[in-house]
Amino acid sequence: MLRLLQISDTHLSPRKRHFEPNWAPLQAWIEAEKPSLILHGGDVTVDGAGDEGDFRFCAELFSKLPVPVLAVPGNHDVGEPRHPYQPVNPDRLARWRRHLGPDYWSRDIEQWRLIGLNSQLLGSGEAEENKQFAWLNSTMSDARGRRIAWFLHMPLFLDHPGEGDMGYWTVKPEPRLPLLELISGYNVALVASGHVHRSRDCHRDSTRYVWAPSSGFVCGPATQPPMSGESRLGAVIYRFDGNEVEVEIKNVDGLMAYRIDDVIHEVYPPREAA
Ligand SMILES: [Fe+2]
Ligand SMILES: [Fe+2]
Repeated sequence: MLRLLQISDTHLSPRKRHFEPNWAPLQAWIEAEKPSLILHGGDVTVDGAGDEGDFRFCAELFSKLPVPVLAVPGNHDVGEPRHPYQPVNPDRLARWRRHLGPDYWSRDIEQWRLIGLNSQLLGSGEAEENKQFAWLNSTMSDARGRRIAWFLHMPLFLDHPGEGDMGYWTVKPEPRLPLLELISGYNVALVASGHVHRSRDCHRDSTRYVWAPSSGFVCGPATQPPMSGESRLGAVIYRFDGNEVEVEIKNVDGLMAYRIDDVIHEVYPPREAA
């Protein structure tokens, strides 16, 4: 049996240390759990999309963990598709790759193929968007009977695969569609995401969709509309055993439930808040 931990939305920066007190308890929990691997669900940084120093800082923190970290980028790490101020673009992707490795990747463990996707490319129109999709198609088709689990920052949808544009909170309907086709065509077992700073574990058709909570902060009413899932901090344990995966969303002792609403004017001043 293989045990993986997923952490997400740490939002760390040497310039804005609001959520940094939550790193030490998270690190202590990781050390006690002794996983084989750590998956980071994105928004590693407060603003890696704007300042390379955030990546240097976070790569240094990762290097002190007892096992490797495989990460997927979030909107605050590499920008957003077609964003007026922080669009995802080749420079931002290069910065991520320099410090934290590939932004999309696959890793085979026992009977499973884990696939990390860069959700920030979806709908961007960047050359890398098509490149990632072609890579994903071939990575899915040569999985040779392995079960497949996806990890990406943005959820594909909030409640229903067929829902409309949910704005800031999910992948847009247009790029979502071909991904849903791959999920049903290859019977993807697990799709795990971050971004909403809430936890949820639910099934749609034969796929399990897990929202990993943030270990950094929760969103209050000023920054998030009512939505499903539970507003809390924590992390996720995955136990891969044969063709099965067990999922456990855990509390992490010592995490302070900071609320972004209280400090958003300092951490994400209005221009960056979108
Ligand atoms: Fe986040
Ligand atoms: Fe995010």
